[in-house]
Amino acid sequence: MARITASVYTSHVPAIGAALDMGKTTEPYWQPVFNGYDFSKQWMKNNTPDVIFLVFNDHATAFSLDMIPTFAIGTAGSYQPADEGWGPRPVPVVHGHADLSAHIAHSVIQQDFDLTVVNKMDVDHGLTVPLSLMCGQPQAWPCPVIPFAVNVVQYPVPSGQRCLNLGKAIRKAVESYDQDLKVQIWGTGGMSHQLQGPRAGLINKDFDKAFMDRMIADPEGQAAVPHIDYVREAGSEGIELVMWLIARGAMADLAGGNKPKVVHRFYHVPASNTAVGHLILEN
Ligand code: DHB
Ligand code: FE
Repeated sequence: MARITASVYTSHVPAIGAALDMGKTTEPYWQPVFNGYDFSKQWMKNNTPDVIFLVFNDHATAFSLDMIPTFAIGTAGSYQPADEGWGPRPVPVVHGHADLSAHIAHSVIQQDFDLTVVNKMDVDHGLTVPLSLMCGQPQAWPCPVIPFAVNVVQYPVPSGQRCLNLGKAIRKAVESYDQDLKVQIWGTGGMSHQLQGPRAGLINKDFDKAFMDRMIADPEGQAAVPHIDYVREAGSEGIELVMWLIARGAMADLAGGNKPKVVHRFYHVPASNTAVGHLILEN
């Protein structure tokens, strides 16, 4: 049986990827950001899973206003780093796990979630920056990755409650796979930020810290928070945080098991236009 061993949560700021790719990690502006992931990189080495199920959002890169899937699961054998306007990031190709993807798609759709099945997709900073933060700059990513894209770019976006429930369904899907695999689920994006309009530059540390507290101790309560509260309190792009609830919904305590163990917590402002938040929870 496959099982979810841990969940990882992290911001995906594109400038972090650029800083890494251009060798700026030790500059005074960036050093505190990367220091927050030193523990995480070692933890990843000690706890390398067989597969990462990576919940992220595409930023009008693979999808556009032509086609807006609310939830899309990658079922390909591999995914190329996307060209977001200045060339693809110099990072390894992302290898998938087509068989587990197909199994999860089947199971989750049968549990009444309408997933879009994506057989070909380039992956943008939403997916590659979390991999870089957690794995550094390896020649190849340490394991296969299943990309799971959530629309948080164009309204209407899914509610926190639906995201939490989807995480529970993903857990059931993973646990009904007949190979003995260790699967991590990552929830990415956030934290508070707004990139546009008169409130551009908004960061709300109190909201972010309370969100992280509730992600640990009260995910059901956080799931009840409506999207308009994220927009008002955490800025228009703060809605990316609902993706964390998918990963959190897959943890054991929401299926009657024990509370997760908090193995790492990090928060730092600023990084580009956003706050960087990061948690690692083990089952
Ligand atoms: C920034 C943050 C994001 O989440 C994003 O997708 C693009 C830019 C930023 O802080 O600059
Ligand atoms: Fe983003």
